[in-house]
Amino acid sequence: MIGRLNHVAIAVPSVDIASEKYKNILGAKISEPKRLIEHGVTTIFVEMDNTKIELIEPLGDNSPISSFLSKHPAGGIHHVCYEVKDIKSACVILEKEGVKILGSGNPTIGAHGKQVVFLSPKDFNGTLIELEEI
Ligand code: CO
Repeated sequence: MIGRLNHVAIAVPSVDIASEKYKNILGAKISEPKRLIEHGVTTIFVEMDNTKIELIEPLGDNSPISSFLSKHPAGGIHHVCYEVKDIKSACVILEKEGVKILGSGNPTIGAHGKQVVFLSPKDFNGTLIELEEI
């Protein structure tokens, strides 16, 4: 089921400040900021040869990452995203194995316009996992 690591998402208080560090200290290539109002985040991608780091900053009052940042004010790793070829059949297997899919339990359109689901951290060693159909 599992394919490549698509990205690691890091919640940060400011994507501008965080991405400047990646650019100026680590010499990374960074994207322009993108405001995703429907997802409640502003994102900047750090692009690497083998994967991406997605810096995410809360946007608006009901951002899904606000409570995470209030617990981790300096920021922290929020989720990892793995690619899957067929997200619907992945969901069937996961449900059969007793893994909780967050939200409605069905794939939604994620921040990158692809179908995604999030799996409960309780079922994966405290790690929030995003599956993205590629
Ligand atoms: Co993500």
